This record gives sequence, structure tokens and C-alpha cells, in this order.
Amino acid sequence: MLDAEVDAIETIEPAKRVSGQLQVPGDKSIAHRALILAALAQGDSMIRGLPDNEDVRATVACLRGLGAGVRRRTDVAEIEGAGLRSFATPHGMLDCANSATTMRLLLGVLAGSSLSATLDGDASLRRRPMARVIDPLRSMGARIESHDGRAPLLVTGTRLQGRRHTLPRPSAQVKSAILLAGLSASGPTTVVEPVASRDHTERLLRAMGTDVALADGAVVIRPSHQALRPLQLSIPGDFSSAAFWLAAAALRPGWSVIVREVGLNPTRTAFLRLLASMGAEVTVDAPIDGEIEPRGTVTVTGRALRAISIGAADVASAIDEIPVLLAIATQAEGVTVIDGAGELRVKESDRIATIAEGLRRMGAVVDERPDGVSIHGPARLRGATVEAHGDHRVAMALAVAGLTASGPTTIEGADCVAVSYPNFFADLRELTHA
Ligand code: S3P
Repeated sequence: MLDAEVDAIETIEPAKRVSGQLQVPGDKSIAHRALILAALAQGDSMIRGLPDNEDVRATVACLRGLGAGVRRRTDVAEIEGAGLRSFATPHGMLDCANSATTMRLLLGVLAGSSLSATLDGDASLRRRPMARVIDPLRSMGARIESHDGRAPLLVTGTRLQGRRHTLPRPSAQVKSAILLAGLSASGPTTVVEPVASRDHTERLLRAMGTDVALADGAVVIRPSHQALRPLQLSIPGDFSSAAFWLAAAALRPGWSVIVREVGLNPTRTAFLRLLASMGAEVTVDAPIDGEIEPRGTVTVTGRALRAISIGAADVASAIDEIPVLLAIATQAEGVTVIDGAGELRVKESDRIATIAEGLRRMGAVVDERPDGVSIHGPARLRGATVEAHGDHRVAMALAVAGLTASGPTTIEGADCVAVSYPNFFADLRELTHA
């Protein structure tokens, strides 16, 4: 069990004020990648700042299932890497739980290995589309069986050939799976995306000695088939977790939150620009850029909020922050319009439908479209009983909306926050003042 116990039902009281400073747990996206790559390296790696959440636990369990030596104490992990070909055939299936990143990235690694494995997950992960990663891997020679493009997935490792992939939509998970497959392929592998997605995999691979270049918007990996160098990494705070507090601060003029030591990778921080264009005051201090991943301190102070309109490029750059953006759009003057957001429908839940349902129950006026959503503001939200639908970011976004409601908001299924941020409700109580 995780240290922080979260109740299945959490009640959010209206806040008179949101203020304070904090550090959020380490970045989940970076953690998955660092653990997997460290297991493939030759030698001992040390990762500090590792978040303890269900998704990262799933990656650790899968790596151990593949025979990798991963020792973790609190937020430090030591990984004994034994090289690209060191994984052993697992006994039984690899349980990725709720984590699509775990499943998609490991599929890329295992496609070019010399073993067979079955990757499976919970009911939500079994509903997620996997053809987007299976098809490009198959075009490199991979042998993968699925249930109509969904998990469980049986992968039988084989020799892969590098090739050029043009993705129909930006996806860091798909790009990373292809790059990881490219590590063991013959010849270079190229990925072209319509909008550049988060580049954590590329940064880590480069730091470990792999030739990964960016040319005209395309990422090219040229595998040397030499061992990856082990990693010494300190993971910054997760920007996508910090986003809930930055959004909460933006809800009312004068509310203010400072998040220290948070990741500032430019492929992750578009939400800061969106908050500023809604009228919030956003400052970034002390950015440190000399490491694999930049970090710094972000302060958001609430000012009168106005509606914004965003399209596919902004959605892609702030994909995990859109649920909480919708929550604060209820308090902005005008109609906030989000287009090109169909990807939200295939996340841990159909996020357009689940957020719309929750906000409507609280009194917001929400128009849903197949690939978009509009929120009419400002709305006087009232306390209501809302559903998390097993989706951590929906639970946290509705909690943020509840801070401005006229009565208590009850979130059912709130314990799913443990997927990324087990201490979320404890931190919320620290920052909110009745
Ligand atoms: C992630 C990429 C994004 C994001 C997810 C984490 C990653 O998914 O929504 O939470 O770590 O690569 P897509 O690649 O499907 O856009």
C-alpha cells in the first residue's frame, strides 16, 4: 500500500483563500523513462526524487518481473543495469495497472528483445487504444498480438529495422516506444510529429550517450549498439501535479501559490502561457537549466480571469492540464473554447465527458463536441456530489473547482489520485484557508 491513504470519498469545502508554498512529488513521465533506461544501461544508476505513486510502482514491478535489479528506499532508487539484452522472460504477465506509459514504453523495449511477454492492465488500460503504437512497431518488424488493438498484448521479441514514422497526432508515449525500439534496431529510426510532444526520452537517451538528434521537427535515433551509460538523476517536481495548485491560485484575485523545484521542460509548460493569457499573474524564478531536465520556482497570483480559445497545438502541449483548465474556465469571463481535443476522450477516462458531467452537476454550463468543449463563465458553482470515474486528473480538477463552490463538494472515487499524487488532498488542506 502507499503511505498516504486516501479515502474513496473526499469532501472539498469552499475556500476563503488559497495561499502557500509547496513542492510536488517527482515527475511521473520522467520517472518511468529513467527507471526503464537505467535497467537497460550497463552499470549502476541512481535516481533521486522518485515519486511514490501507483503508476511508477507498476513500472518498477514490471522491470522486476523482467529480472531487473531495482532497489528503492523512500524517493531514491538504485538500479543495477545489465545492458540492452539483459531482460529475462517473466513468469506470468506484466501488470501495467492503470499506466499507459508503462505499457507503451515497455512494448517498444520488448519488441526488439529476445524474449516473449504479455503486457496487461486494469479495466481502464484495457480500453485504451494500442494500435497507435502496435502499428508503427510492426512496420519495424515487431511481432505483437492484441485484442483488436487493445491489451492484453503478447509481444515476441525479434530483430527490428529502423524506419521513418510520421505520426498522425502528437504522442510522447508513441514517440518514446518507437525510439526505444529504435535503440535495438538496425539503422536509424525517425519520428515526425505534427506538434513536438514532451522530450524526456530524448534528453535521457542523450545523457546516456545515445545519438538522438532533432532535425526539421523530426527526432532521429542512430543506435550505436554500445551500452547505455548509467544515470545519475534528480527528478524535478511534476509540472502536471503542480498545475492543480497553479490553477487553484488563479481562481480568485489575490490568491497565490508558490511551487518550488518544479520541472520546467519547455515541452511541458504551455499551461503557464495559457494561465497568463487568461489574466493570471505568472512568474518563474531561479530556473536551473544545466541538468538533464530544467527546474525552478513558479508563482501564480490570481487576477480577474477571462475566457480563452485554444486549438489542437495548445491542447497537445498542455494535454494533462486541460481538465483543470476547464475547471478554472468556469470562473472566467466569457466562453472558453477548446478545439482539437479528441485525444482527451481516450485518456484514463473520456475526459471531455467526465469533466463536463462533474462541472454541470456543480452548475456550470458546458457544451460538448466530439473533439472539443466550451465552458460559459463566470458560473456560480454549487457544492454537489461528483464522480472521479477512476481518473486521477478528473478527481483533482473537480476538487479545484470545488474550492469556489457555495457548499461542500463530494468526490466519489477520489482514491484514484494515488495513480499520480497520493498526497493531493493533504496538500489541498495545507493550501486552503476556510
Ligand atoms: C505521457 C504522454 C501523454 C500524457 C500522459 C503521459 C508520457 O500521453 O497524456 O499522461 O509520459 O509520455 P500521449 O502520449 O498519449 O499524448
